[in-house]
Amino acid sequence: MTSATTPTSAQREPELLGQTVVVIGGSAGIGLETARRARAEGADVILTGRNPDRLEQAALEVDAQRTAAFDASDAASVARFFHDLPTPIDHVMVTAGGPRYGPLLEMDSEQVRQAISEHVVLALEVARNAAAKMRPGGTLLLMGGTGARRVTRGLGIASAATAALPAFAAALALELAPVRVNLIAAGFVDTPLSVSLLGDRLEERRNELRATLPIGRVVGPTDVAALAVHIMSNTALTGATYDIDGGQQFVFS
Ligand SMILES: NC(=O)c1ccc[n+]([C@@H]2O[C@H](COP(=O)([O-])OP(=O)(O)OC[C@H]3O[C@@H](n4cnc5c(N)ncnc54)[C@H](OP(=O)(O)O)[C@@H]3O)[C@@H](O)[C@H]2O)c1
Repeated sequence: MTSATTPTSAQREPELLGQTVVVIGGSAGIGLETARRARAEGADVILTGRNPDRLEQAALEVDAQRTAAFDASDAASVARFFHDLPTPIDHVMVTAGGPRYGPLLEMDSEQVRQAISEHVVLALEVARNAAAKMRPGGTLLLMGGTGARRVTRGLGIASAATAALPAFAAALALELAPVRVNLIAAGFVDTPLSVSLLGDRLEERRNELRATLPIGRVVGPTDVAALAVHIMSNTALTGATYDIDGGQQFVFS
């Protein structure tokens, strides 16, 4: 068959038409890019973050339907936010809450408790408060990482915290059904978080990744956003962890 006679399917329905996506941590980085992509696929988006100015700027950029400024690690604020949502929602992505590194023996009990549990506790508060507002078939989408899967001395507590998330997402998927639960595990992603973590060493790290990753380039937030929107639209996916790291975990970079 020649290309001249091949039927084309250039026209397609936007994947999230008529759906509503909430991004908890949507004013920067992966959350903001996911909101932008979801919007381009026809969704209404609702953004949250702590810094109200950054949040308003992001909302203008992606034409968000609604915003709310609060700290997602505060359970009462999470409950208030979902209680106040006027209409049903389809998907909730959680990008709030950063990683914690550090030698185990230098942490006190409270620091260890926090580092191990904060992602899980935050996600659980989102899940229990969002559930009643979410339409069947929608997904709660959590963020984890591949970077701390391989135990090294410098990562300290981060490896144990990372290891808990796939099992947590799978267990929550069983309890929350027919709402789906999925986890994205990213390697290095070039976001404001990476800028703040690496500072002066950022460009050096980018070059190192370009030279060593099988994909020959650095993973950006738009890459993760594309995966996130796919997970939202593909209703067969639940309880699973999706790696996106350009092969970083196999080259130990
Ligand atoms: N970048 C990476 O290489 C990478 C790799 C693996 C996993 N991850 C994970 O992916 C997620 C997103 O990372 P990112 O790189 O996109 O981060 P980012 O660029 O720092 O963006 C984080 C977003 O979440 C908001 N946020 C952070 N903490 C919050 C809180 N307690 N309550 C409400 N909003 C909060 C931030 O706004 P405010 O600061 O104004 O609240 C911002 O909108 C994080 O969980 C991170 O650990 C990132």
